[in-house]
Amino acid sequence: MNREIQLEPHLAGLRRQLRQWRQAGEDIGLVPTMGNLHDGHLELVRQARERCDRLVVSVFVNPLQFAAGEDFESYPRTLGADQQALRGLGVDLLFAPGVEEVYPRGEADHTRVEVPGISAILCGASRPGHFIGVATVVCKLLNMVQPDLAVFGEKDFQQLLVIRRMVEDLAMPVRILGVATVREADGLAMSSRNGYLSSAERRIAPRLYASLRQAAGTLRGGAQDYPEVERQGLEALRQAGFIPDYFVVRRSRDLAQPQAGERELVVLTAATLGRARLIDNLRVSG
Ligand code: PAJ
Repeated sequence: MNREIQLEPHLAGLRRQLRQWRQAGEDIGLVPTMGNLHDGHLELVRQARERCDRLVVSVFVNPLQFAAGEDFESYPRTLGADQQALRGLGVDLLFAPGVEEVYPRGEADHTRVEVPGISAILCGASRPGHFIGVATVVCKLLNMVQPDLAVFGEKDFQQLLVIRRMVEDLAMPVRILGVATVREADGLAMSSRNGYLSSAERRIAPRLYASLRQAAGTLRGGAQDYPEVERQGLEALRQAGFIPDYFVVRRSRDLAQPQAGERELVVLTAATLGRARLIDNLRVSG
């Protein structure tokens, strides 16, 4: 059970292995990640493991989804520790391609996948091109592995909607499973970027989730003045020491502006604290 997981950096080797599994009639799950694995990622692995015969986890820090000046260079690369963290979880193969394996001609000249509309708002407005990078690499990983099931976190709520839209629009034969956000004991959503926080910032960081809880409580109490809820959220974040990017109440299905009385809402926020850009969200139903 606790043997090393098969590490495969090459597409050819991956495909050789996948062919054997397919021939044996086994179905395949994929959990795409950028590595530096934490309990949030591991929960996706557990959820996937229960639903397929063979499980592939990918680790690839995708340059195409980082804008110039973002943290692509400094993003933590911890493949050895990631391989260890996956031990005992029933992962069959760890696919960790290099940039040249995924983008042999360089990422600038690579074919791109764009899901219009939803990619341009919120995180897409603040990080132009980000969701094109995400959709492109997820499309490519899905084509490389051709899984029956791929698992993503609701922590990146907008990303999950972008991926669901892409899969639907392009009739990609894969089932997408979203998994609830895994949090630290104090409510902070687990994220590789939490490692950028100083200890003082780390003590402030749970206020992000607290602001979402506050807004969700107000909405559950019947508030329908969404701009007012948003204004209060922004104010709470500023008071706590964040530089907020957005704090919005949206329709959870498609992130459209909700009409008063909308029953399926999500409150989403992004804010900078020190070096870290943190995101979180909370759904409010009924
Ligand atoms: P990464 O940030 O490594 O996250 C990989 C997966 O883990 C994503 O589906 C993300 O939503 C999920 N995840 C991260 N933190 C989580 C948490 N606290 N609880 C539950 N799930 C969590 O997201 C990416 O990588 C990339 O954009 C990727 C999809 C791999 C494409 O490059």
